[in-house]
Amino acid sequence: MKKKPFIVAIDGPAGSGKSTTAKLVAKELGVTFLDSGAMYRTVALAVLKSGEGFDDPDKILKILFSSKIDFKFEDSRLSILLNGEDVTDGIRVPAVNQVVPIVAAMPEIRRQMVPVQRKIGKKISIVAEGRDIGTVVFPKADLKIFLTASIDTRAQRRFLELKSKNHDIALEAIKKEIELRDLKDTQRKISPLIKAVDAIELDTSSLTIAEQVDFIVQKARERIS
Ligand code: CDP
Repeated sequence: MKKKPFIVAIDGPAGSGKSTTAKLVAKELGVTFLDSGAMYRTVALAVLKSGEGFDDPDKILKILFSSKIDFKFEDSRLSILLNGEDVTDGIRVPAVNQVVPIVAAMPEIRRQMVPVQRKIGKKISIVAEGRDIGTVVFPKADLKIFLTASIDTRAQRRFLELKSKNHDIALEAIKKEIELRDLKDTQRKISPLIKAVDAIELDTSSLTIAEQVDFIVQKARERIS
């Protein structure tokens, strides 16, 4: 008998380790990893590339509709292509970090993104990460995790990640950017970053990646079986 697809939702603030964790949890469970942040980031990058501003949702929608965005899964690595160009690293640069909350707060944009995410979750089992996965996109997810970590830990993680990609940004500047983005994400009207009432909160400040992955995989196996 064909098994019913299951959904693990991982939400949380910037730098809490959602991407790394979700990717490894998906690999361990043998299912697909859905990076919803990458979708909003790709739209933000498309707008930056177009030279348009960020104040007119209609113009941004036009850019979205005229762009070709593809997700490619190869050897459990997720690549994102914007009009044929690999932007997997290009969407994670400081310039995109600054503008992505503007795009993500637009109802017009979310109305396009959420159905795409739901469509994927209807067909196949996924581990999805973002800000509103357990609250809005998949309120009936089999398992909901809310990942947190102290602001200093999150800033330090992002600092090391950017440094490894040769971005030379001061730790203090990263901390400010994360604080500002979290503020915008939690205070916006539509789909704000908030812990779902039935989510398990996991503070990863003093956990290793392996520990947090093991915790979630175990919980997921309990729920699915
Ligand atoms: O990796 P990090 O946590 O820094 O960011 P991300 O998950 O790639 O998300 C980037 C931005 O996209 C967030 O700061 C939100 O503004 C937005 N986002 C959202 O609004 N809803 C989601 N489900 C995922 C991301």
